[in-house]
Amino acid sequence: MEIRKTTLAMVSAAALMLATSTASAAGKVEVIHWWTSGGEAAALNVLKKNLEKQGIGWMDGAVAGGGGDQARTVVKARVAAGNPPTTMQQLGFAILDFADGGFLANLNDLAAKEGWDKVVPNALKRFMKPDGVWVAAPVNVHTTNWVWANKAIFDKLGIAVPTNWNEFVAAADKIKAAGITPIAWGGQAWQEATVVDALVNSTGGTDFYKKAFVEMDQDALKSKTMVEVFQRLRKLKGYVDPNYPNRDWNLATAMVINGEAAMQMMGDWAKGEFIAAKKVPNKDFLCFRFPGTAGSVTFNSDAFAMFKVGDDAKANQAALASAIMEPGFQAAFNIVKGSAPARMDVSGKDFDACGQKAIKQLAEAAKADKMMGSMAHGHAVPEAVKGAIYDVVTNYFSSDMSAEEAVKKLAEGVALAQ
Ligand code: GAL
Repeated sequence: MEIRKTTLAMVSAAALMLATSTASAAGKVEVIHWWTSGGEAAALNVLKKNLEKQGIGWMDGAVAGGGGDQARTVVKARVAAGNPPTTMQQLGFAILDFADGGFLANLNDLAAKEGWDKVVPNALKRFMKPDGVWVAAPVNVHTTNWVWANKAIFDKLGIAVPTNWNEFVAAADKIKAAGITPIAWGGQAWQEATVVDALVNSTGGTDFYKKAFVEMDQDALKSKTMVEVFQRLRKLKGYVDPNYPNRDWNLATAMVINGEAAMQMMGDWAKGEFIAAKKVPNKDFLCFRFPGTAGSVTFNSDAFAMFKVGDDAKANQAALASAIMEPGFQAAFNIVKGSAPARMDVSGKDFDACGQKAIKQLAEAAKADKMMGSMAHGHAVPEAVKGAIYDVVTNYFSSDMSAEEAVKKLAEGVALAQ
């Protein structure tokens, strides 16, 4: 189990933090998260304000780093040192790891009182309620197979929304020929993996995605289709600017907002950045599914996993969980965050055009059995396997490795990490 493999360095970093973090008892909740971009912080503020109204103090534990790798490292160390926060923003399999280790609280009484079972879809419950115990409160559902485009650039060049790979390549070529960067790329492993999720779905279809990234099937991982996925990833590199390495995702979104680049392939937290910049869907920007993935979604759900805390902190922890699950809050939060509510009974009527599209497409995909956990965001494979895939993807993108070699490494890496 990954948590138990925590290094000594991490543990001593945690010991240092201990001195400053023991105040998480009465009166306050300590919340660790990675929501530090403009749109993310604005969304989190909705939750903070909600708790403040109830007289509950908020100890903010922001750990910058999109996708949450850095935040997870910090919390693993805290947990290993016996000093967990009240809660942490968590994704899918990472929740299961903490639950397996026996570190999470049992929220069953609250969940029963508030009827969570009836309103949270099974695709989420699998992670929130392992072995019949509610351990986390889901705040949203993000879908990740989106393209965010600058509408003025599309209009100026007469580009229609591409619906398949060839149309996408033609659009990108046209943009490049006009002297504009076609794709705003963030060269970080989790961002590149987000694009790979979409490429696997688009190139091979939903059954192939499930075989490769959910079932971790060796034949699918080694297949010609997977070679094509990597060839397409290489093709995308021709559309990015030279400053892409290590660029944060929100800076890539800003490039699209400012017209420095035409498109970004990213989950719908990117919409939070457009909204924070006062941009309007279909007027200033376009949101469309990654070409070739219409009808299906890859998703991830941000949840607040509740750690075992002392008796003095339990009431505030429960108040936090209850606030997260409240329907009015789920609407208000997700309108700002860019995601859909985690509860199925929240109306989408106040959401903008992209939000309504997300909610509708999510429901349709779920019905058609085409709602798939995102590998890049911890909802398809265990954390160690995800890490192995990240390594191959990012090494491939930053080198001149052949697609065949990448696929060989992918299959080997996944087999070893299981
Ligand atoms: C995702 C998370 C989103 C968003 C994004 C970028 O993993 O689910 O809420 O914050 O990372 O930081």
